[in-house]
Amino acid sequence: MLDGKRILLVIGGGIAAYKVLELIRRLREQGASLNVVMTKAAKQFVTPLSVASLSGGKVFDDLFSLTDETEIGHIQLSRAADLVVVAPATADLLAKMAQGLADDLASTLLLATDKTILVAPAMNLRMWLHPATTRNAATLRKDGVLFVGPEDGDMACGEYGPGRMSEPTVILSAIATALQGETQISLLPDIGRAEKPLAGRRLVITSGPTHEPIDPVRYIGNRSSGRQGHAIAAAAAKAGADVTLISGPVALADPPGVSTVHVETAADMLAAVEAALPADIFVGTAAVADWRVETAAAQKIKKSSAPPQFALAENPDILAAVAQRRASRPRLVVGFAAETENILAHAREKLRHKGCDLIVANDVNRAMGREENEVALISPSGSESWPKMRKDEIAAKLVQYLAQMLKDRSDA
Ligand code: CTP
Repeated sequence: MLDGKRILLVIGGGIAAYKVLELIRRLREQGASLNVVMTKAAKQFVTPLSVASLSGGKVFDDLFSLTDETEIGHIQLSRAADLVVVAPATADLLAKMAQGLADDLASTLLLATDKTILVAPAMNLRMWLHPATTRNAATLRKDGVLFVGPEDGDMACGEYGPGRMSEPTVILSAIATALQGETQISLLPDIGRAEKPLAGRRLVITSGPTHEPIDPVRYIGNRSSGRQGHAIAAAAAKAGADVTLISGPVALADPPGVSTVHVETAADMLAAVEAALPADIFVGTAAVADWRVETAAAQKIKKSSAPPQFALAENPDILAAVAQRRASRPRLVVGFAAETENILAHAREKLRHKGCDLIVANDVNRAMGREENEVALISPSGSESWPKMRKDEIAAKLVQYLAQMLKDRSDA
């Protein structure tokens, strides 16, 4: 995946530095080549020897090393890379970067480089939430620096909250996205650090399959379980949103804190959606049946000598109908794309012709009916792939993502 890509990895001095060894291993496995720079503090947490053994190269740490200066030079080192990655990005390193300080090799390289920089912050939650760090992160974002994480979690210091460095697999996927040059979408938004990022917002979501009757006992349906949609509804309610879930027939409990409307057919689903609008966000996760039997039989069709023939009619496209509303269109209209091949290309096409703001694309062979999913997010300005996660984890991240998108639109 990263064959031939050159990464300059700056390791900051934090307890999360141990996770970087795993990141280095994975980067090498993917075919990337690495130059590694360690700050003085980083060497307190991992040894240059273990970093050098895993990275397969030299570890740089001294701004004034004569040999390094004659052989490579710090300016050259900073530019002989496709991407610069800082992990863990400590509060101190972020502050230096935001101020343009250059008092050691790591900060000098970060100032001298003309390449994209991706940072994976890691620090105590009070440090992350401190106004100074918030300011620095905002400055860096404005400067085009990309962020992955930090995540909520248990801290080495025994507290719980935002500040934990993203896992190596997540950083790896952020690196792959950044290398595609698709930097318009922030990699993993860092809001949602606020307890209820969707407080005061209204979200309407469809989930599950629809059943289109053939006769009173038979129907056209599909394999959708509704798990992803229900998980998003639950996560949005947890994030403070007022949520209406329009659910097709599923074997799931109604999510807590969500007002759930049960429907069967695509036509009922559309009517329920229209009744639930207006909203700030609409998310279409339902696997709406594309066709219905034009005239469903009023009585059970009896087995006859010849199998019956059905004329099919096209169902309304609920997502497109919401996205193309003239009056009170939700600020954010999000669709899902269930594909079995050419996933990104088909998803982009859906984004365009349905007129929505974001498409979450997945491979149905890997997602339908399962606990886990692997998705890619596509918007008119870029795309990014998320690693395989449980559907409830995807839901939580997506909700944070949507909160950030909505905030950006409100600020703009
Ligand atoms: N969708 C919808 N109403 C429909 C069909 C789809 O609201 N009648 C929504 C789904 O909820 C999803 C998105 O459109 O958010 C894409 O659904 P998908 O089944 O992947 O695509 P289709 O539009 O049905 O196209 P195709 O079957 O050709 O892939």
